[in-house]
Amino acid sequence: MGIRQRTLENLVAARARRLVSDMKTILITGNMGYVGPWVLRHLRESRPQATLIGYDMGYFSHCLTRAAILPECRTDLQYFADVRSVPEKILEGVDGIIHLAAISNDPMGKAFEELTQEVNHRATVRLATLAKQAGVRSFVFASSCSVYGFAEEGARTESSSLNPLTAYAQSKVAAERDLAPLADSRFRVTCLRFATACGMSERLRLDLVLNDFVASAVATNRITILSDGTPWRPLINVKDMARALDWALDRTTGEDYLVVNAGSDEWNYQIRELAEAVARVIPGVQISMHPDAQPDKRSYRVDFSLFRRLAPDHQPQMDLETTVQELRQGLEAMRFRDPDFRNSAFMRLKVLEELRRQGLLNEQLEWTNRARAHRREAATSVNAPVPVRS
Ligand SMILES: NC(=O)c1ccc[n+]([C@@H]2O[C@H](COP(=O)([O-])OP(=O)(O)OC[C@H]3O[C@@H](n4cnc5c(N)ncnc54)[C@H](O)[C@@H]3O)[C@@H](O)[C@H]2O)c1
Repeated sequence: MGIRQRTLENLVAARARRLVSDMKTILITGNMGYVGPWVLRHLRESRPQATLIGYDMGYFSHCLTRAAILPECRTDLQYFADVRSVPEKILEGVDGIIHLAAISNDPMGKAFEELTQEVNHRATVRLATLAKQAGVRSFVFASSCSVYGFAEEGARTESSSLNPLTAYAQSKVAAERDLAPLADSRFRVTCLRFATACGMSERLRLDLVLNDFVASAVATNRITILSDGTPWRPLINVKDMARALDWALDRTTGEDYLVVNAGSDEWNYQIRELAEAVARVIPGVQISMHPDAQPDKRSYRVDFSLFRRLAPDHQPQMDLETTVQELRQGLEAMRFRDPDFRNSAFMRLKVLEELRRQGLLNEQLEWTNRARAHRREAATSVNAPVPVRS
């Protein structure tokens, strides 16, 4: 390659970098879930001048945990709407998108298999296509390390073969695949394959392994491991997820289309080690294996060296012990004591099932007229009924 051509390429790359570095207006889909509130907080601090727009169906909007204010007050504008039918108009003037909206775990993916493909895969590709047409310059997709499924030999890198075992993981693989051809120097796509999230949030989920262990320890002084404890599972604190998403918005490293594992090598744990870490922070906790413990189908270690290389200033900062302590403090401050929490509003699937049972969501997971009437009642009632107990 001649020097002139290289110079030209450098100029083009520099121009592309300048184009993406000016993120004035950022749309965050799925901002009203577990991760979203931290993303808003983080972006408010790191980009005080930016206009932040939220876009969420609000399935879990009522599942607040220790929120001093409604987290969405941190947006400049909040849409309550379906990501499957984003109107083109709202993308005008948007510079970057953080796309979190999803049917967000395996149990929900199993219960709503077709919808999981529709929301996580097809709606993602449609949104990205419209975004590109509207002149959005950066699209950040919250993918998942669960695409690796079961992998015994060594830590998985981005080029390792994929083994998505569930509808949820399959939907993430399909979305990543179909986002690739959309990417170019004017429309950068970043798929962050996140490790399993953990940590306190203003919309806490307890259907995540570490959060489940801490909740169980706080409520019952016991942790029962539902496998033989040997599976590997990389973890990441939600605050560190927000840091990674912030980096991806206007990254200056990596190709136009980038898939990168987001987490850190030190956070590759075996399930048993996670339980032991909780027991160290919360003394007197007993750990037992489930009587019929089977080896877990999901087990993988992940190599995060690419993320370390590309995002040296946005590496995870939290440690496991502090994460457990924050969860414990958060739960205690909520006076959390429910030993039956796996049937409560802390579980995403339970909330959706309850909203369905009450006829507030139809089988396409769209709000029904009944829900609209319910919302009107709730708005005029001081003791508004909460659909699911928490
Ligand atoms: N939590 C984890 O362990 C983890 C790990 C890897 C990747 N991720 C990904 O990160 C993202 C956020 O995860 P989370 O834990 O906050 O999940 P969450 O379930 O708490 O939040 C998802 C949000 O998406 C919204 N949503 C769902 N369908 C929608 C639709 N059709 N239209 C508009 N909004 C819709 C929900 O109302 C909810 O507020 C997801 O894409 C998830 O797959 C999460």
